[in-house]
Amino acid sequence: MSTMTINGKSAALPEDRDALLVDVIRDGLDLTGTKLVCGSGVCGACTVLLDGVPVASCLLPAQAAAGKSVTTVEGIGEANLHPVQKAFMAHDALQCGFCTPGFIVEATAFFERWRAANGIAVPSREEIGAALSGHLCRCGAYEGIFNAVAAACAGQFDGRDVQPPRVEAGAKVTGAAKYTVDIRHDGQLEGVILRSNVAHAEITNVDLAPARAIPGVIAAVSLLGDDGVVRFVGAPVAAVAARDRKTALAAIASIRLTSQPMPAVVGLDDARKPDAPVVFDKSSRKKAGNVSEGAGGPAPWKGNLRGPSAAFSQKAKKARSWIGSARDAQDPLLFEATFRTATQQHTCLEPHAAVARFEGDRLTVHVSTQAVFHLAELIAKRFAMAHDKVRVIADHVGGGFGSKASLGTETIAAIELARAAKAPVRVVFDRHEELSVTGYRPAAEMQIALLPSPEGALKALTFNAYADTGAATNSTLAGLARLIYPAEAKELSDFDVISNLPPGAPFRGPGGPPMAFALEQAVDEAALRMKVDPISLRKRWDTNPNRRRLYDWALGLDVWRNRKNGPAQTGRYRRGVGVASGYWLYIWQPGSSIEVAVKGGRLVASTSTQDIGQGSRTVIANTVADAFGIEPHEVEVRIGDSRLPEGPGAGGSRVTASVIPPTLIAVQKLKAAIERSAKRMPAPGSNAPWRELLAASPDLSANGVRPEDSKPTAPGVRSPLRDAGFIGIIFGWMMRRFSNLAIGAGVPSSVQVVEVEVDTWLGHVRVLGVHTGIAVGRIAAPALARSQATGSVIQGIGYALYEARETDAKSGHVLTSNMEDYRIPGIADTPEIDVHFDEAGFDHVMGGSVGIGEVATVPTSPAIANAIRDAIGVRLTETPITPARIVAALNARSAA
Ligand code: FES
Ligand code: FES
Repeated sequence: MSTMTINGKSAALPEDRDALLVDVIRDGLDLTGTKLVCGSGVCGACTVLLDGVPVASCLLPAQAAAGKSVTTVEGIGEANLHPVQKAFMAHDALQCGFCTPGFIVEATAFFERWRAANGIAVPSREEIGAALSGHLCRCGAYEGIFNAVAAACAGQFDGRDVQPPRVEAGAKVTGAAKYTVDIRHDGQLEGVILRSNVAHAEITNVDLAPARAIPGVIAAVSLLGDDGVVRFVGAPVAAVAARDRKTALAAIASIRLTSQPMPAVVGLDDARKPDAPVVFDKSSRKKAGNVSEGAGGPAPWKGNLRGPSAAFSQKAKKARSWIGSARDAQDPLLFEATFRTATQQHTCLEPHAAVARFEGDRLTVHVSTQAVFHLAELIAKRFAMAHDKVRVIADHVGGGFGSKASLGTETIAAIELARAAKAPVRVVFDRHEELSVTGYRPAAEMQIALLPSPEGALKALTFNAYADTGAATNSTLAGLARLIYPAEAKELSDFDVISNLPPGAPFRGPGGPPMAFALEQAVDEAALRMKVDPISLRKRWDTNPNRRRLYDWALGLDVWRNRKNGPAQTGRYRRGVGVASGYWLYIWQPGSSIEVAVKGGRLVASTSTQDIGQGSRTVIANTVADAFGIEPHEVEVRIGDSRLPEGPGAGGSRVTASVIPPTLIAVQKLKAAIERSAKRMPAPGSNAPWRELLAASPDLSANGVRPEDSKPTAPGVRSPLRDAGFIGIIFGWMMRRFSNLAIGAGVPSSVQVVEVEVDTWLGHVRVLGVHTGIAVGRIAAPALARSQATGSVIQGIGYALYEARETDAKSGHVLTSNMEDYRIPGIADTPEIDVHFDEAGFDHVMGGSVGIGEVATVPTSPAIANAIRDAIGVRLTETPITPARIVAALNARSAA
């Protein structure tokens, strides 16, 4: 039998020549710090050292390690943390942490090479980018990674201890953090899902007998809905649990289906044709998914077109009529265009995963979820169980971005199989499933017309948006334009275009980035036509005080003041500067509560929220620590468990605004209880510092529940929906009633200024620098907020320049279902990003803080497009802005 040495110990290797090193490391040796993401050598998450050289263990046959030495992240800094690990912690070079072990392994190898050759010289950004270019981070923690690697190489962390700004950073840089995909129970089975290979069919029979007959298969269940209809390629049909994945895959391949094909239609253009096959008839419309974070309002639904949802229009007829007249009169100020944005995939590095285990009538499910508490409720309802019999756990979550907010097929299948098999079952999606059936930001076609008045005011706006929602509804893009630039008249109409594609899902600021891509370019065009500075025009048209302060900041930036006016440049490389605004709703979750306790002299804060990388643990720890004058790491934060007091889901940027106020209330009550107790004791006395009082305190606890804000929340008269009048009030009421979400007063805002360089020969766009100004109130965890802000920009760069899901228009198969074909930004695509926080504007919220995750990504794509227009004089109206599109646009202009 051959062996390898792993982290200094000998380990046997399987004889199976197909066995991959990553599986031996993770499943055989339980060294789960090494992560499996792409499985194809693209992302670097599985990187280990083989005789000191970084390799992708997902590509390496295990036998290739025979006689060699393997080092995983667990073997790095085993006794003492490596300087690279300390630097990652100190510079907050991580968010969800799922990519972190791979980066750490690669960066330590680079560090050793660099040190040997260059001593403590500082490597350049380009050198670090080149060394780490085989690694991907979907959270976009690249800015911190650059800084961390440079500082480590420069010797700044040699022998120095660090206190990281993110409380769980130590677990993430050492590989100790456990994600759902890392959970192993005794006797655990592997579950695999059989999916539809056709876009539309009625499945009349599912014969599971051949699967059940395969040795090693313990359970097989049908996952078909009551009507037996599959409406997209990848729709779940059945699931199998077996002793290993290989057996489970063989079993699902043996299942026999009997089906009736049904006519299918794929995509935005075909689904709108009058003779297109209908995806949902009247009786099945409730089966459609939801692409938004809240409940949708009523809208007409004809064929595959649902809409217009025009609730946020205001004098729509007038808007149409004024724009029609301006068109007839060939008013040079009227700007009309059609913008198209591509489908963006969430691409969480931790795939959707669930591990279900029954113990008697109790069910525990580890799930990679954004909503532990809510998910437990949904499971209890679906499986007709008492809420207290269901427990959902998510210690660490490797990214979500909106795609893990509800009860997904992975969880349903794991529970069904665990019940049938009477054994724990794990279901983990592979990358093909992850990039095809877990949701996406729908592509959109947006027709916009914007008319300034001769006096320079915004007179009329019409905005019709068609979203390519697949088997889902409830998109809002145009409607969001109600939140900015008041006009005399606005027609804002949203349509869902339903087709036989997997359902879209909420994705970081649902509707926001595509809406801004169109609207912010239209405003830029108006500025050009009016010969007004684009920031000054925004300041003239935009009444929001948060953004008006950000406009002043942007006007003062050197890159803005020194920009060249107009695209008068010649030569191959041309530079331009663009600006755009972002806006989002301030949302919080009523009922959010927290317990803060002293246990054994230590402060413990507990709530059933979860940390998907945005930093909820740290926000809570900082809030408690600040109040007691101690260090955040002295506070133990318990989250990620539905048994804890009800906490908020991580969606709609709601966690910070939902957890800080109840934490402050609980802290207040706890302090009073500690002081009362101290008065009864001879020492230390109630006037002693908190650290002493805590050490002497008996175990005590206090609860806080999220109070209302001091300014009314919708439905109320002072919310950002006030301009939408009665409809706004109804919308606010529906969000609260059906989604348990409150819309608060004030608008989280952002303004971004971007500089680009365009290669006019090859069409390549390089983002040189980004300045992002953000107004979300007081910043509760500065290093983490900065990381969120830069990561949001990087996702926006991907949206603008690289990302597009492609589907086969005939079959409905997703073609970009691996990470080579679906391109997300890498470290070398990352420009320098300057973050400016404006901390005013939310004093009516206890603690003064609201969420950042969504508003920070909204303006990036239009700011880039506006910068490209500034550089080359051509407006790009379609994402991704690929080199081919740039070259075509330049050629079209030359030919004109
Ligand atoms: Fe191996 Fe992505 S999992 S490179
Ligand atoms: Fe890199 Fe989340 S921190 S993927």
